[in-house]
Amino acid sequence: MSSRIPGFYKLPPSERLKRLEGHLGTEGIASYDDGLSLEAADLMVENVISTFSLPCAAAVNFLINGVERIVPMVVEEPSVVAAVSNMARLARATGGFRAESDPAHMIGQIQLMEVVDPDATVGRLTEALPRLRAEAQGVHPRLEARGGGLVELEVRSLCYREPDREEEHMVVLHVVLDVVDAMGANMINTLVEHLAPTVEAITGETVGLRILSNLADRRCSRAQVVLDPEQLATDEMEGQQVAERITAAWRFAWADPYRAATHNKGVMNGIDAVAIATGNDWRAIEAGAHAFCCRDGQYRPLTRWEWIEGRLHGSIEVPLQFGTVGGPIRVHPTVQANLRLLGASGAQELAAIAAAVGLAQNLGALKALATEGIQCGHMRMHARTVAATAGATPTEVGEVTLELVRARDFSVERARAVLAELRSR
Ligand code: MEV
Repeated sequence: MSSRIPGFYKLPPSERLKRLEGHLGTEGIASYDDGLSLEAADLMVENVISTFSLPCAAAVNFLINGVERIVPMVVEEPSVVAAVSNMARLARATGGFRAESDPAHMIGQIQLMEVVDPDATVGRLTEALPRLRAEAQGVHPRLEARGGGLVELEVRSLCYREPDREEEHMVVLHVVLDVVDAMGANMINTLVEHLAPTVEAITGETVGLRILSNLADRRCSRAQVVLDPEQLATDEMEGQQVAERITAAWRFAWADPYRAATHNKGVMNGIDAVAIATGNDWRAIEAGAHAFCCRDGQYRPLTRWEWIEGRLHGSIEVPLQFGTVGGPIRVHPTVQANLRLLGASGAQELAAIAAAVGLAQNLGALKALATEGIQCGHMRMHARTVAATAGATPTEVGEVTLELVRARDFSVERARAVLAELRSR
């Protein structure tokens, strides 16, 4: 079933949903009627007084690893969904995106504080790894039955060293757990808390923290796309020039953390929107992504764009701690509906799709920035909100928006005047 739905953006929301029947089934469509109930919300967090809604949109046109994908995105910012859908449309001509993810290996940390003889402690812990490995067995029997469980134990020696402060040695045990289709925070935290007393007994040292690391660099996703110049040409610019400007924009982000932060913000516009739509912890994903960007000592862009033999090559590598089970995923009906719409087989595939969406989002932003600038498209989308704020009904929004864009005046006052003029005809 194709994800290419020409004119999708022109339909009213209910019609759009109907057009997705092939991907969702009638039952799937109906499930979008049930939002999160107050009762379910009250079980999720403390002191609940209400629930809070955001737009849930479908990004179309995606071809990822040869599979058609409609991608649910929850986001409040205009242009994000339009940009990824447009870039996914462009990419189709050269086969769409390739994407893959590492197995879901999460890291947990057990910290030994104020260690006096770090070498001796590292030695004692390293010798006792078989005992710790045995102790980790059976902590998560259901996970082990699904093919997950302990992957590796790693001993690290760290030192806190700042000018004018007392030095402190620490020894940290990394516990790597395959969490299969979960995000895995609870499972890893349970395991490190379980192992901590034995770590203390083995070393005679004091355990400090026992917690997962959100720098999930054993759990990276990668996506690639290749574009021909014709796919990038605009009315004003030839494709090759657009491509060269995109690569120049990327080199700017590589050289400058000020630019890289904004570049990556655009990437995360796409990834976070998929994370929220699928009930995932976007703060964890954000933290991991940004920490990963600093791995060579300077904050760098998450993506790479290069002009190679007459084609634009784009790629992304990013740690993505996505789950398809656990957390709010089970209890949130819209999350369930979104997962059905996306049709990912599990966490690895979901993360790979999110990486492709991040890459598409970055391409959309860089293409706009390299050509007409970002404000033009942004303001076109923003104009719709302005028109609605001025009181335009759904049937009037289109005409008011057109006029605001034509006059390049996006004030509510102007929208009110246009609306008054329209109604007086
Ligand atoms: C806006 O949300 C994201 C951009 O600033 C990203 C970028 O500059 O690459 C457009």
